[in-house]
Parts: sequence; C-alpha cells; structure tokens
Amino acid sequence: MSKLWGGRFEGKTDNLVEVLGESVSYDARLAPWDILGSIAHATMLGDCGIIAKGDVKKIIQGLRAINKAVAAGEMTWDTALEDVHTNIEVALVDRIGDAGKRLHTGRSRNDQIATDMRLWMRDQIDVIVLSLKELQNALLDLAEAHIDVILPGFTHLQNAQPVLLAHHLLAYVEMLARDEERFIQLRQRVNVLPLGSAAMAGTPYPIDRKQVATLLGFDSISRNSMDAVSDRDHMIEFCSGASLIMMHLSRFSEELILWSSSAFGFVEIGDAFTTGSSIMPQKKNPDVAELVRGKTGRVYGDLTALLTLMKGLPMTYNRDLQEDKEALFDASDTVQLCLAVFTRMIPSIAIQREAMAHATAEGFMEATDLADYLVVKGVPFREAHGIIGRIVLFCTQNSRRLPDLTLEEYQRFSPSFDKAVFNVLTPGAIVKRRDNPGGTAPRRVRAALKQARRRCR
Ligand code: ARG
Repeated sequence: MSKLWGGRFEGKTDNLVEVLGESVSYDARLAPWDILGSIAHATMLGDCGIIAKGDVKKIIQGLRAINKAVAAGEMTWDTALEDVHTNIEVALVDRIGDAGKRLHTGRSRNDQIATDMRLWMRDQIDVIVLSLKELQNALLDLAEAHIDVILPGFTHLQNAQPVLLAHHLLAYVEMLARDEERFIQLRQRVNVLPLGSAAMAGTPYPIDRKQVATLLGFDSISRNSMDAVSDRDHMIEFCSGASLIMMHLSRFSEELILWSSSAFGFVEIGDAFTTGSSIMPQKKNPDVAELVRGKTGRVYGDLTALLTLMKGLPMTYNRDLQEDKEALFDASDTVQLCLAVFTRMIPSIAIQREAMAHATAEGFMEATDLADYLVVKGVPFREAHGIIGRIVLFCTQNSRRLPDLTLEEYQRFSPSFDKAVFNVLTPGAIVKRRDNPGGTAPRRVRAALKQARRRCR
C-alpha cells in the first residue's frame, strides 16, 4: 500500500521505522470516534460548498459501511498505514474511489487525532462518572444494612475512638464524590472542538467550525489552532483524576486486606472475589483488593509518562504526541475495570460485627470521654488528661479494662468521679455523643447517608 504522504519521497521507509511509528495496533480502538468526526467534517464541507454534496453522500455511506465492518471485526488493519486515520481513509478510497480522496480537505491528522481523543474521552468520562455513582451506592447499601455496627476508629493504626461502620464507609463515599466532581469538571474542558485547526495554523478553506461542533455535541470551539493541536492537558488531568480514584480504591483495598486477615477478622470477602492457595488449603486470599492496590502503581505510571512526554515539547504538534495514547488508554481501562470489580465485590462482604465489637473493647478507647467527663466536673483538661493516663497505666499493669473498674477504684484517682461515670463507658454512648455535623453520632450518620444517597441518584 502506498503512503498518503509518499509524493515527495523516492526511497522506501525502513521496516523498523514502520514498527516504531505504527500506532494502529493500539489506536484502532478509536475507529468509531474517528468515523463520527469524519462524518461531521464531510457534512460541513458539503454544506459550505467546499466539496460536492454527491461526494459527501458517498463519503458518509462509505464511512458507515466501514464502521459496521470494524464493529463486526471484519476490518483488516495494516501497520504499514501507520494509524487508524490512514487505515480508514485508504479503506474509504477502496470502497468509493475518488470521492474518498476529498474527505481530508481542510483537515490534518493533527487536528483529527486531537478531535478523536476528545470524543473518545468524553464517552469514557461518562462511563467513569456512572461507575463512581454505582460504587458509592454499593457502599451506601452496605452502610445502611449495618447502621448500628460499631468498630474501632484508628489513628496510627492504633485504636483511637469507636465509630459507626457506616461513618467509616461514608468517608470513602466522600472521596468518590470528589472523584466524580473532578471528572464532571474535566468533561467541560474536554468538550471543546479542535477540528479546523488543521496542521496547526488553521485552514484557508471557508469552513464552519461551529457547525462541526454542534454536529458532534461540543460546547465550543478551540480559540487557538496552535494550542489546539498540541494541548494534552486534559489527558494529564484524566490520568491525574484516575490516579486519585485508584489511590482511594487502594486505601480501601488496604483496609479490606487488613480487615479480612485473621488478626482482625472484621470482614469476610465472598468466594467470588477471593482465591485459594495452591499449597495452603486453609487460605482465602483477598486478591481483588491486592490487585487493585497493585494496579494503582501503573496508573500513577501513566500520569508520570504523560507529564514527562509533554515537558520539553516545542510548539506545536510533535510526533512524540503519538505516545499519549497507550498511557491514557491504560489509565482509563484500568480505572474502569477496578471500579466495576469493586462495585461487585462490595455486596459480597460479610461484616463480622462480633469481631468489631470485640476489638472495640480493646485499647482503652473510652479514655478521651473519661477525660471529658472530668472536665464537665470542673477538672481542667490537662489535669484530667493526666488522671486518665494514670488510670490507663493502672489498667495495663493489672490487666483491667476501663468499664470494669469499680467506682471506688476510680475515686482513688480523683474524687470528682461519681457513679455517672459508667454512663460514658459504653461504645454506643461514646459514638452518640459525637453529635455535631460531620460526627459519628447515629442521627448525624443517618442524615449523611440520606444526603449521599440523594447525590448519587
Ligand atoms: N498517529 C498520530 C498521533 O497519534 C496522528 C497524527 C499524525 N500526524 C502527523 N503529522 N504525523 O499523534
């Protein structure tokens, strides 16, 4: 097959250069979006009188037929033709002859690829936003089904204060809500049409860029042709947003891995989302969580690859930019897969409320509330902190727990204790007292659940 740009060349391309330069092995997936953009471009060329309407008709029919062939897996992709654009254009000329050669009027592959990528990204963003909502809903279901379950809240992975499991899960809902917001905002920046910038300076043909934008559902057209063909900010933002999603999933994964260990025993992940060991018959491993945690690294790698790709590029299009695709595709595929698997895994998680209750009794988590109790009785907080510290020391030295001490024992440390002290010593009471917006009191958490559910509809 002869090259599209073969005119000024006498010699053949080295075959290793073809291996180095081809992108069709990975950009063929852009075909439906490439065809969409070409149909809009051809329609506009016809309406503006730049090419004949008869040719436009043939072009559109040809492109639709190619689209069907691609979907049916009947398209043969030729790496000698470099990329998806050239493959489709050559296939079009094969089908409809000379009319096909008029499609590329007033356009360059530089503004064409920029357009394809934005069209493709828009669809991926829509899927990701929907997936984020679904995962949030799965978490809300789990939270609602266990609204009264209490577990230790940690700082430094040391027992800190008891919290509702629902409050803990809602923390992840907050993270995912920010992720959702980021992708919704990104969509606005992606939804700008670069086509019409041509190679980089614009085109002398009397084209109508606004018509193309309308046909393709873009909100606006790019303001500067040089920026339009070389800008990849939106891809970096995409990988950055994807990295944050992965980081959130990875943190949750880490907790599931800890929680499902026999040392914690807080959860059991369903059979469909765990795997066994080839040697240890007793094992049930949290591979899904581990793989998601592991894949987080490669999405960070995609972000780093794009940032590095861009940092030294002079204006405008440089062939380096072809390297943007694999990183972006990988980040998008990975984040979509991980979100989908996670959303399915969540309902399979069995909450072990006994183990959580057991762990909540450990670690003297009543200490802060005991200090607060003394403060209410008029003891200065610093002094109260010291008194409770000494009580905790007494407990550790005598294998005792705070709720098990007698009033008489409490009064040995401070005369301010009375029998009301035992009211502050249950996890339920401790949780209930955190009754401010954003706190873990059941009525605050129920309200937060309701609000989150409304946002996720
Ligand atoms: N395959 C190319 C890319 O992905 C398309 C644009 C090619 N432009 C060019 N002047 N070689 O960036």
